[in-house]
Amino acid sequence: MKLVILGPPGAGKGTQAAKLSEELSLPRIVTGDMLRLEVAGATALGKRAEEYMGKGLLVPDQLIVEMIRKRLSQEDARDGFILDGFPRNVEQADAFEGMSDVDAVVYLNVSEEEVVERFSGRRACSQCQAIYHVRARPPQVGGRCDRCGGEIRQRVDDREDVVRQRFQTYRQKTEPLVEYYQRRSLLVEVNGSGTIAEVHGNIKAALASRGLL
Ligand code: AP5
Repeated sequence: MKLVILGPPGAGKGTQAAKLSEELSLPRIVTGDMLRLEVAGATALGKRAEEYMGKGLLVPDQLIVEMIRKRLSQEDARDGFILDGFPRNVEQADAFEGMSDVDAVVYLNVSEEEVVERFSGRRACSQCQAIYHVRARPPQVGGRCDRCGGEIRQRVDDREDVVRQRFQTYRQKTEPLVEYYQRRSLLVEVNGSGTIAEVHGNIKAALASRGLL
């Protein structure tokens, strides 16, 4: 199965993509995590990407499209994947059409107020990028990742001013993809409010109703 997860910042894309990836044994391709690794490694791509990420802006399409093209050509992505964070605008979606087919685009629809509350409590592992929340999904041992024991921190772009800009970028650049994929009959809209387990159930029910599960 080839899935794209779409939604505003903090909608739960990463959280749900991780659960689906485990259950369906599909590789999870997360552009935000790939970029954060490049930033941590101070690579040429990382240094360029950091300028945009720190301001809540999209990293230039050319860099992202190349990064995804390479990743999708790897053996493990040949028969299926879950894409989280790509495509992010119409230009990236057009480029993606030339690279791969897709079975469904899951659109997590969540109100802005709910997402803001999620952001304030989000924490992520500095090593494996696993996602936590101080209330909805705390780690078992304070400050340490359940999976790898890495240190859990707040993401640098979760500062309030950057979050505001990320929303604006989403509204201007990414939201038009809802209509883009609706026109192609690929959009699967899911209610992204509720607990993590409830949203997961909503996604599975929506995919099943399309005959994909
Ligand atoms: P990226 O990392 O993709 O950030 P984003 O889209 O803003 O999404 P987030 O990761 O913030 O949120 P999410 O929806 O995954 O929510 P999560 O599951 O963490 O991108 C970062 C930057 O990289 C961009 O700004 C851009 O600069 C660059 N970039 C990336 N891709 C790009 C591209 N294609 N082109 C150009 N630039 C690109 O959940 C949020 C919190 O809520 C967590 O704490 C979680 O535990 C909690 N939570 C989740 N679900 C629930 C629930 N149901 N109830 C309660 N809490 C919940």
